[in-house]
Amino acid sequence: MEEMLRKKVMLSGIKPSGDLTLGSYLGAVRHWAARAEEFDCYYFMADMHAITVRQDPAVLRRRTLEQLAQYIACGLNPEKNTLFIQSHVHQHAELGWVLNCYSMFGELSRMTQFKDKSAKNVDNINGGLFTYPSLMAADILLYQPDYVPVGEDQKQHVELTRNIVQRFNGIYGDVFKMPEPYIPKVGARIMSLTNPASKMSKSEDQDTGRVTLMDDPTLIMKQFKRAITDSDTQRCVRYDPEEKPGVANLMTIYAAVTGKSYQEIEAEFDGQGYGMFKPAVGEAVVEVLRPIRDEAQRILKDKAYLESVYRNGAEKASYAAERTLRKVYKKIGFISQ
Ligand code: TRP
Repeated sequence: MEEMLRKKVMLSGIKPSGDLTLGSYLGAVRHWAARAEEFDCYYFMADMHAITVRQDPAVLRRRTLEQLAQYIACGLNPEKNTLFIQSHVHQHAELGWVLNCYSMFGELSRMTQFKDKSAKNVDNINGGLFTYPSLMAADILLYQPDYVPVGEDQKQHVELTRNIVQRFNGIYGDVFKMPEPYIPKVGARIMSLTNPASKMSKSEDQDTGRVTLMDDPTLIMKQFKRAITDSDTQRCVRYDPEEKPGVANLMTIYAAVTGKSYQEIEAEFDGQGYGMFKPAVGEAVVEVLRPIRDEAQRILKDKAYLESVYRNGAEKASYAAERTLRKVYKKIGFISQ
């Protein structure tokens, strides 16, 4: 009966290690906002994950609050979604430790994100970077979600979480619900405007091909005008991710913000070349981001409101998380107090 009445649960998080980008919005937060009625949703600022790479404390603080304001501005209503800051819910660290003991050295060593990040931070290959996926498994499993919306780059971590579930449940019975990764089709992967071979990254300050949610319209237009296309002499706007990855990325963005299909876009710019196309994409993006930026700036000034949102969120999250943690502690043989 409880199962029948229970709404399906969805959970995701983003590290406040960089400013949210157009890619974060189109690939993630926009889809989350559309799910609030159908699912019981938990979204958090993964500040504990952010410190696996050295952060400036003041910047981390600013970005965490900014990210919360942006979540709300992107349409995540705090009345309908549980929005919280990871470090406010102590059960994450606690279950994270337990799950460390059920994550194998070998499987953690195979994580591509660990390999990439250790190659980029050779002077700080810390234990947290290595056990990151166990903490992420804890983030997920505390809430017993059905779906975990993530980008392609996080799928391997969700797979590892599934292995942990199998291992743990195999020993102790049905403790954790098996989560499914959920990868949106449209706009799932927005690439850098200057390097269409790599994802538009929020963490890399060097990525000149990125548009953040707080960028002003002039900067956004500049970024789109100098977006990389290709050397096609016809300058033809055609969807071909293999041959024309830059143009395909711009078309993906344009399709995502206008709702038009690739065929419609090809017809719209037929014979017009890139000179017309690039600023048109820029303008469409400016119009979509304008209300988000205005609203986020307004919310950010209202510290009391932000505080009430993250306090309520932590309280709700903690209630759900505690239920799972108690069950786990009991199963593994800890004395209950
Ligand atoms: N690892 C994710 C990222 O880098 C953030 C994250 C942490 C997350 N815990 C999570 C995502 C749990 C989904 C579910 O963006």
